[in-house]
Amino acid sequence: MEVTGLHKSFGDLEVLKGIDITVRGGEVVCVIGPSGSGKSTLLRCVNLLEEPTSGTVRVAGFEVTDPEVDIDRVRRRIGMVFQAFNLFPHLTTLGNLTLPQRRVLGRGRAEAEEVARGNLRRVGLTDKESSYPAQLSGGQQQRVAIARALSMGPELMLFDEPTSALDPELVGDVLAVMRRLAQEGMTMLVVTHEMSFAREVADRVVFMDAGAIVEEGPPEQVVGEPQQARTRAFLARVLDPAAADVLEQEPG
Ligand SMILES: Nc1ncnc2c1ncn2[C@@H]1O[C@H](COP(=O)(O)OP(=O)(O)OP(=O)(O)O)[C@@H](O)[C@H]1O
Ligand SMILES: [Mg+2]
Repeated sequence: MEVTGLHKSFGDLEVLKGIDITVRGGEVVCVIGPSGSGKSTLLRCVNLLEEPTSGTVRVAGFEVTDPEVDIDRVRRRIGMVFQAFNLFPHLTTLGNLTLPQRRVLGRGRAEAEEVARGNLRRVGLTDKESSYPAQLSGGQQQRVAIARALSMGPELMLFDEPTSALDPELVGDVLAVMRRLAQEGMTMLVVTHEMSFAREVADRVVFMDAGAIVEEGPPEQVVGEPQQARTRAFLARVLDPAAADVLEQEPG
């Protein structure tokens, strides 16, 4: 994935102010930054849920921002996992995984079910294929959402704070699934506040603030020894909210 000179405005509000970011095949890049800095908008521009104001986005050899591009064809290559799981409540786990494969990819039932079961195994939910979303925990529902995205055979996975709606004890299972995907070589762009995940799994960490990339590099650099004051202030808030309040009250 290659994003070049990406700008996005909503009316007078410029939300992305020229973003350049590359994720090579098999890489995991984590995006961190304060609320409102434009992280979700960046992800939404990559699969054209938002139309960029200017700039280019290329994914797997396709220019997403080319006005002539077959956007459905591009989107099939990009899996997206949101904070909200967006599962169909009236369908079982298996139904949620097979419906988009059949509708969008035209797969037959047998093939779709085989692919679905393979991906349920990857996320550790083989015993839940007949459950409805209401019968699953939040963490299990999010793993179903990940398996649904994987069933489309994406070349790039976008994650937008996939664990931030979960109870703390459910976060670990979802992160474990994502860690395994990374080990399998999936190309991933992940917006997250989970710094331990970023430190362990990311090849690179990108810190965004106010619509721009402030700092970027390997996690041990950006999270471990941030160079920019804004990055340090953000990390202090995320890693120890109580201590950060004290820091902000200090003069200078
Ligand atoms: N559809 C929209 N119309 C108008 N403004 C929008 C729209 N979507 C986002 N914005 C604004 O763009 C800015 C960036 O929003 P975005 O959701 O990308 O931030 P974020 O970094 O993902 O924040 P958070 O960490 O809270 O999820 C915010 O000021 C937001 O209010
Ligand atoms: Mg967001």
